[in-house]
Amino acid sequence: MTEPKKLFVKTYGCQMNVYDSERMAEALSGQGYEQVGSAEEADMILLNTCHIREKASEKIYSELGRLKPLRDDNPNVKIGVAGCVAQAEGEEIMRRQPIVDLVVGPQTYHRLPAMMRAVEAGEKALDTDFPEEDKFLHLPKDRRAKRGPCAFLTVQEGCDKFCAFCVVPYTRGAEVSRPVARILGEARDLVERGVREITLLGQNVNAYHGQDEDGREWGLARLIRELAKIEDLARIRFTTSHPNDMEDDLIAAFGDCDKLMPYLHLPVQSGSDRILKAMNRKHTAQDYLDLIARIRDARPDLLLSGDFIVGFPGETDEDFAQTMDLVRKVNYGQAYSFKYSARPGTPAAERADVAPEIADSRLQELQALLTEQQRAAQDGMVGRELPVLFEKHGRQEGQLIGKSGYLHSVHAVAPAELIGQVAMVRIIKSATNSLTGALV
Ligand code: 5AD
Ligand code: SF4
Repeated sequence: MTEPKKLFVKTYGCQMNVYDSERMAEALSGQGYEQVGSAEEADMILLNTCHIREKASEKIYSELGRLKPLRDDNPNVKIGVAGCVAQAEGEEIMRRQPIVDLVVGPQTYHRLPAMMRAVEAGEKALDTDFPEEDKFLHLPKDRRAKRGPCAFLTVQEGCDKFCAFCVVPYTRGAEVSRPVARILGEARDLVERGVREITLLGQNVNAYHGQDEDGREWGLARLIRELAKIEDLARIRFTTSHPNDMEDDLIAAFGDCDKLMPYLHLPVQSGSDRILKAMNRKHTAQDYLDLIARIRDARPDLLLSGDFIVGFPGETDEDFAQTMDLVRKVNYGQAYSFKYSARPGTPAAERADVAPEIADSRLQELQALLTEQQRAAQDGMVGRELPVLFEKHGRQEGQLIGKSGYLHSVHAVAPAELIGQVAMVRIIKSATNSLTGALV
């Protein structure tokens, strides 16, 4: 028997990259690669990269710089760059860092096994096409592998919205929905392998419009209701959504589909209509507030999450004050906020930036408010009895860690058999990043 070759995958960026990394590792296991936990042990190092902000992109070049001595010591080690930086920069990566043997964009992972053979033969390989076929279709799966209780499942990819700041339409391409049958098949397979919670992924997941076998189009709500029929699947989530695609049946599902968790990530980016228009968001702040009110009507205990950009070109103090105002009105349970980062090739990159000190101080102010809201939402769980899906052992003896429906981490003393099961927990304490409770 030949020694297994060793693969190290490092993932940056969003959950879709996490999903893609898992699929690539599965596909390469068919080629005799087994995953290892560090670059030092590996024969093949694959960086699955993110291009969303400048910092994220630059990280890749510093990582490649760190890998250079390793490669100099052992020229047999192969190095690949996958994901969104690969898509955006292509050949330029090999030019800037000659240790790179392989560059593969996020739409061509099904060609990875063939590319790896070329790389093993000492060639360089590059593929950043946007082919028609489903990139997951030809990736062989290791169906025996047991899974943890929570999994991601990509149902939709790419984006046609063209927000003025965003690289996604360029790196991930046009919006494509995977067919219904393939998603249901993959979900059943995951559940058979031990998965109890599935998070449906897409850059614009609520725009899902996949076809069934009769060629009819299904929206996300119908897909969720069908997935909910899988008996041993306990929980469904989806991320990330655009306000303009939040259709009535999806809002209704929050009220009538027990398996759909009461948590929604619905980015608004800014509270100023002027900035929303400049961002090409195609909705106003009031549209967003009205939408939130309708979703909360369907599910009053819903916990909301969002994304914000401060310092978008042209943002004034008044615009920023309107963002703060919107945040106070919505009251988020969780949110991410970023300083605007000009991305080459996007429309906003041509516009004059806000002074960095101003953007910094706005970011601090916004983050302080969001942290306060997040803290209050988490502290508000104390005293409640919540269903918790246990995922793994905690650091302390006898303790398990799981998640509530609201996506808070919960620690509780519980028997190991409860891993992979939902049990009721009375919440006793709220710490910085987690809750502690006792089994009911
Ligand atoms: N600068 C700063 N933040 C950005 N995001 C996307 N593009 C940029 C950019 N150019 C943020 C948005 C988006 C999240 C994934 O990243 O808030 O919702
Ligand atoms: Fe980053 Fe966007 Fe690519 Fe995800 S899709 S890895 S967030 S650039």
